[in-house]
Amino acid sequence: MGDIALAVIGGTGVYKLADLQDVQAHDLDTRFGAPSGPVRVGLLDGQRVAFLARHGEGHSVPPHKINYRANLQALKDLGATRVLALNTVGGITDACGPRVLACPDQLIDYTWGRVSTVCEEPGTDVLHVDFGDPYTHLLRQQILAAAHEAGVALVDGGCYGATQGPRLETRAEIRRMRRDGCDLVGMTGMPEAGLAREMGLEYACLAIVANWAAGCGTDEEITMEEVLANVAAASAGIPALVAALARG
Ligand code: HPA
Repeated sequence: MGDIALAVIGGTGVYKLADLQDVQAHDLDTRFGAPSGPVRVGLLDGQRVAFLARHGEGHSVPPHKINYRANLQALKDLGATRVLALNTVGGITDACGPRVLACPDQLIDYTWGRVSTVCEEPGTDVLHVDFGDPYTHLLRQQILAAAHEAGVALVDGGCYGATQGPRLETRAEIRRMRRDGCDLVGMTGMPEAGLAREMGLEYACLAIVANWAAGCGTDEEITMEEVLANVAAASAGIPALVAALARG
């Protein structure tokens, strides 16, 4: 099996990678258990790319039940070293309205009760990894360059706030997150980013804004139809971006 140029984890509304050719499905079992579903490895513009649907291909795994460790380990076991995390999010600040793509450079973790380290098992060395910059700097630069090459508009930077879900947030929770400095809110950014760092993977997030977060923007009720329609519209440029990133 040749090297994998890039691994992609798809979030809500992104259950496959369009344009992936000669796809092989890998049903893996890792030292952390089973991932959310098969890892599909195929060719994108001549590059080997792996894809995994974070919530499972039928969106059956809620954010707090995802085996984030197994998902990352499965990609690592296949030989991936670079992980592009696609995360569907709500937008809090003005630049982050529905259908915007953003590449955050910071995060705040509001999740709780999730397995958030690979150092839990008895006898494992405890790691205190540096996490001042939670996303890999070089991979972020490569994503920005790939977006430019693919002609895809991207907000450079911002803070991703990871909430527990699966319910959406209250207006007061979003007001607090805005005060904290969050631009985006999603449910799956952590512990994934922290685990990737512990596992030595290059990891960065491409956030797809599906809706205004509670109390922001047009402040309408958030529906799943709206979320999925906006993700579909905002995702149009993603295959070209991923292909450029896999090449670079
Ligand atoms: N909040 C949290 N997660 C989300 C949202 C939101 O508004 N939209 C899509 N994922």
